[in-house]
Amino acid sequence: MQQPRVEDLDWNEMYGRARQEKSWKSKGAADWDRKAASFARRTKKSVYTDKFLALLRPEKGWSVLDVGCGPGTLALPLARRVERVTALDFSARMLDILKERAGRKGITNITTCHAGWDDDWQARGIGRHDVAIASRSLAVPDLRAALEKLSRHARQRVAITDRVRYGPFDPDAFAAVGRPLRPGPDFIYTVNLLYQMGHLPSVEYIVLEEEMIYSSLEDAVEGYRWMFRDLSPEEEKRLQKYVRSITTSADNGALLLRRRHVPTWAFISWRP
Ligand SMILES: C[S@@+](CC[C@H](N)C(=O)[O-])C[C@H]1O[C@@H](n2cnc3c(N)ncnc32)[C@H](O)[C@@H]1O
Repeated sequence: MQQPRVEDLDWNEMYGRARQEKSWKSKGAADWDRKAASFARRTKKSVYTDKFLALLRPEKGWSVLDVGCGPGTLALPLARRVERVTALDFSARMLDILKERAGRKGITNITTCHAGWDDDWQARGIGRHDVAIASRSLAVPDLRAALEKLSRHARQRVAITDRVRYGPFDPDAFAAVGRPLRPGPDFIYTVNLLYQMGHLPSVEYIVLEEEMIYSSLEDAVEGYRWMFRDLSPEEEKRLQKYVRSITTSADNGALLLRRRHVPTWAFISWRP
């Protein structure tokens, strides 16, 4: 059989096909609205933000477009370090949390935009920024179109994070619950597609915590429950048993959770 040549591979098409095989359903704006508060709580303490910012190395004079900004995970700390931030998301609830947090912190240089990847950003007044970022928010059916759009909206640099293998999902939890986990395409499609598009992407990795501290078992289970849609009572029991099996009590009464698969994100950046 003739070996395929790498130049003949259509990475966008392969990405689309791999996406159809994933075991989880894509989330719409209403799903993210429902998840906004718990997502904001869960991600608040993560090392992710500091690691992302260390790789981005923000500069004082920058304008930054943050696509799929969520509750302001990056937009808020970035606002203190750059000239201005435009924070775009299709979930109104995420933007509400961002605005509320910005208000509390006295941050006034963030403009929010309630829009999706597919909307006409120009019509919404969003022009080119120095830097465009999309952190954990590249859940799009047409990857090439999204990458081109980000490139068009940045003068100096584009930086995104994309899943490595399972991304934030824990395959051991899926095995314990008895559900299949087919995570869909990961960063390797994105890197190859960018190369095919004529870019030279750099790739670095953000490895999250191996150990997590929770105040109670319920708290720890909550940190896992979001991975599953509609758990049956039997599945819930299995999940609780799994979480119990990977936690130990710490001296101060807290629970220490140790995961075998540490969530890892690829930090991909390129010059537009
Ligand atoms: C996993 S969260 C990431 C939030 C934040 N960037 C972070 O890293 O913590 C994904 C975000 O992307 C947003 N999102 C998903 N699909 C989107 C779309 N088609 N258009 C705009 N925002 C979208 C969601 O509403 C959510 O806020």
